[in-house]
Amino acid sequence: SPIEPPEFKACGAARDVQSGDLLNINCCPPTSDKIVDFKLPPPPAKLRVRPPAHRVSKEYLAKFEEAIRRMKALDKSDPSDPRGFMQQANIHCAYCNGAHDQVGYKDLDLQVHNSWLFFPFHRWYLYFYERILGSLIDDPTFVLPFWNWDNPKGMQMPKIFDNSGSPLYDANRNQKNRPPAIIDLGFSGATEDLQVVVNNLTVMYSEMIRSVNSTLDFMGQPYKAGDAASPGMGSSERGSHVAAHVWVGDPRNKYSEDMGNFYSAGRDVLFYCHHANVDRMWSVWRTLKTDVPKDIKDPDYLNAAFLFYDENKQLVRVKVGDCLDHKKMGYEFEKVDTPWLNYKP
Ligand code: C2O
Repeated sequence: SPIEPPEFKACGAARDVQSGDLLNINCCPPTSDKIVDFKLPPPPAKLRVRPPAHRVSKEYLAKFEEAIRRMKALDKSDPSDPRGFMQQANIHCAYCNGAHDQVGYKDLDLQVHNSWLFFPFHRWYLYFYERILGSLIDDPTFVLPFWNWDNPKGMQMPKIFDNSGSPLYDANRNQKNRPPAIIDLGFSGATEDLQVVVNNLTVMYSEMIRSVNSTLDFMGQPYKAGDAASPGMGSSERGSHVAAHVWVGDPRNKYSEDMGNFYSAGRDVLFYCHHANVDRMWSVWRTLKTDVPKDIKDPDYLNAAFLFYDENKQLVRVKVGDCLDHKKMGYEFEKVDTPWLNYKP
């Protein structure tokens, strides 16, 4: 049977996943007696289009910054408001650092990484994050930008995140990797920029096409009720996704906070922008004309469910099966080139 949404009332201590250390943080969400089943609103006449972060307009940036500013302000006015910046970051901690258990299996942590839940969980997480930001600035058309690290033009940390006066800034990052450093998606250690770019394109070709011989190679391994956490990552999660976390995380901090640890990653706004591109990679993969089937038909996948607070602080239950087509969720991605398609090694 499918993984069930966690019981918020049973939420407990969080641990560092690598070391098992108890973390000095309570990341459990507020509880709520009322849970509603999420219904997708009818798709809008015009889809919202997520832009690449390296070429957003001034107007867009001003909105994005204002929305984040207001989200951060909620932390001060009411730290228990589930729409607040820290509460939103703590979602990632609770679902990923063992604070939530699997319902009915007290000894099993619920874990949304390292399995086929990876893409759907993060898609829903960003969906609500984006709607909350939109509602905080009264703009239901608001979208998150994506960090276009799979294209040479986007292979630096987007500059909008590197302005210390901006609410998008986070001091807890690897200082060596601020712009104009080029991200190294393959942990190649190459020092020539051009070589790193070429390696990155080869990494992308590999994780999207070459090393993907089955649906689960890309999506991650099955994870069902009663299964131990972390049965296995898909190629994209393991590759570019982890690489960007490690590259941004601050080596001066014990647990590589912020981006380098599950519990703290959501405290860096860049996290949501990174995951918008991970989400886009899932979308792009589904359009590739390869022989690998793109759908998982197992009902234990389609019926797996999560809980999130929406922009009205209502706790909603969402199913994996309802997030497979992001256009039905009302958004798409601005079209950009995917030069890695031609980087067969
Ligand atoms: Cu939930 Cu990129 O991690």
